[in-house]
Amino acid sequence: MKTWRIYLRALQSDDYKNTINWRNDDEIWSMLVGPKHFVSPDYEKKWVEEAIFDKINIRLAICLKKNNEHIGNIYLNEIDWINRSAVAGILIGDKRYWGGGYAVEAYLLLFSFAFLDRGLHRISMPILEYNTKSQSVAEKLGGIREGLLREAVYKNGKYHNIVIFSFLKDEFIEIKKQYG
Ligand SMILES: CC(C)(COP(=O)(O)OP(=O)(O)OC[C@H]1O[C@@H](n2cnc3c(N)ncnc32)[C@H](O)[C@@H]1OP(=O)(O)O)[C@@H](O)C(=O)NCCC(=O)NCCS
Repeated sequence: MKTWRIYLRALQSDDYKNTINWRNDDEIWSMLVGPKHFVSPDYEKKWVEEAIFDKINIRLAICLKKNNEHIGNIYLNEIDWINRSAVAGILIGDKRYWGGGYAVEAYLLLFSFAFLDRGLHRISMPILEYNTKSQSVAEKLGGIREGLLREAVYKNGKYHNIVIFSFLKDEFIEIKKQYG
């Protein structure tokens, strides 16, 4: 069994003190599909509190096992219990950890939970076409590039294409074996 360097945990009220910095980071926002917001500590505190009690979406903290440091967040949104599908997203907010393989590890944990504990069948992942790093993460997880939404997001003065990757439970179970 793989020795995980991270674990996922429920968000806690004080997490906003960390996540506010990620939320206000322009480089991070430029890589996300969502629009830019100006976020105050009050707003972020409320967002985290609502996420804690959210019964529809699953929003979790990514933490290092070695010191419990909270380095990012990972999400399963738009969970649809009829079609057993959801939409995934991630951010490694602490940039010191970019390029360390943490995103791949966090998704392996999230997808295991989603497919094997919650019984989901399909997860999709929309990614800005210019976010090649995130696309490499999706490819490393065995994601299938299934479509392109043309000029679907207006950001930084331009329209951008969105690439849609998808993951099916049975395929993921095979991919997961490669990671031990
Ligand atoms: C995108 C993001 C999640 C990647 O996290 P990460 O932990 O750095 O990713 P990983 O280390 O698991 O690396 C993934 C792969 O990306 C690839 N990669 C790294 N930099 C790259 C680049 N500039 N272009 C293309 N691929 C790149 C590498 O091949 C790496 O694979 P490797 O382990 O074989 O070297 C992180 O940079 C982040 O949070 N960015 C801001 C928010 C964001 O983009 N979220 C995703 C929105 S869809």
